[in-house]
Amino acid sequence: MYRVLITDPLSDQGIEKLTQAPDVEVILNTSLSKEELLEEISQADALLVRSQTKVTAEVIQAGKNLKAIGRAGVGVDNIDIPAATSRGIIVVNAPDGNTISTAEHTFAMMISLARNIPQGYRSTVQGKWDRKSYVGVELNKKTLGIIGLGRIGTELSKRARVFNMNVLAYDPYLTEERAHKIGVTKATLDEAIAQSDFITVHTPLTKETHHLISTEAFNQMKPGVRLINCARGGIIDEAALLQAIQDGKVAGAALDVFETEPPGEHPLFSLPQVIATPHLGASTREAQENVAIDVSEEILHILRDQPFKNA
Ligand code: MLT
Repeated sequence: MYRVLITDPLSDQGIEKLTQAPDVEVILNTSLSKEELLEEISQADALLVRSQTKVTAEVIQAGKNLKAIGRAGVGVDNIDIPAATSRGIIVVNAPDGNTISTAEHTFAMMISLARNIPQGYRSTVQGKWDRKSYVGVELNKKTLGIIGLGRIGTELSKRARVFNMNVLAYDPYLTEERAHKIGVTKATLDEAIAQSDFITVHTPLTKETHHLISTEAFNQMKPGVRLINCARGGIIDEAALLQAIQDGKVAGAALDVFETEPPGEHPLFSLPQVIATPHLGASTREAQENVAIDVSEEILHILRDQPFKNA
């Protein structure tokens, strides 16, 4: 029997894939202390997580029988990949299942930002009837800069075009041909930053993308620009963003992700131009079902020595 340890909440449909497998024993515990995790992992053949469990080198080292680590989602930044690789442990993710949900959440954040919906809601339910403070802007004919035109960026661009936005896309792998096919204009990073009314980031967080949007980038932006980050905290330098909003350069920011999560009482939250959600991009029934099923199937394939896709 293979022991599969699940340490973050996963959709039932994904867990069922494993519990119904005759050769698998599932250990589901989403409230393990660090010591308990080190104890449980020592018996496990596979570990399945979302983003809460920090799969450090110490955890990987303790997994004496560990053959695979599955991430129900896209980002694997909570897993020490070099430590896993050095032990021959396969790390798989589920890159497709939450694309639509994250693109839709990003679009919702962009509209909310443009029309001050969270601010207007808060004021109205506090008993006020303030129709002057929340005048917004249209998306129509505005330029949207998409930094990173992978799966989510591409889905977002389709929605933006339906709203009659001009889309400037920066992605090092984007060809003119693909840009033309999708209906976006291929841009350099500097062009996307300097010419956009709305800027949204859709890159992984790496050494190269850490603080990609910093003071230097804010200096290049149009006054009144609005920013959205539903990708990873740390791509936008939060201190530089705070300053750019206080200086009146940036009209607003919609953040679903933060450099530290949870962010607690973040200085950005004292600014009325900032709206926020608690990393909800992939939090839909559909996305959670998709990623849990995909990654559970991958884990079964790896344990059974069958071909798998997303390492
Ligand atoms: C992901 O990387 O898939 C998303 O950020 C969603 C999540 O962490 O659950």
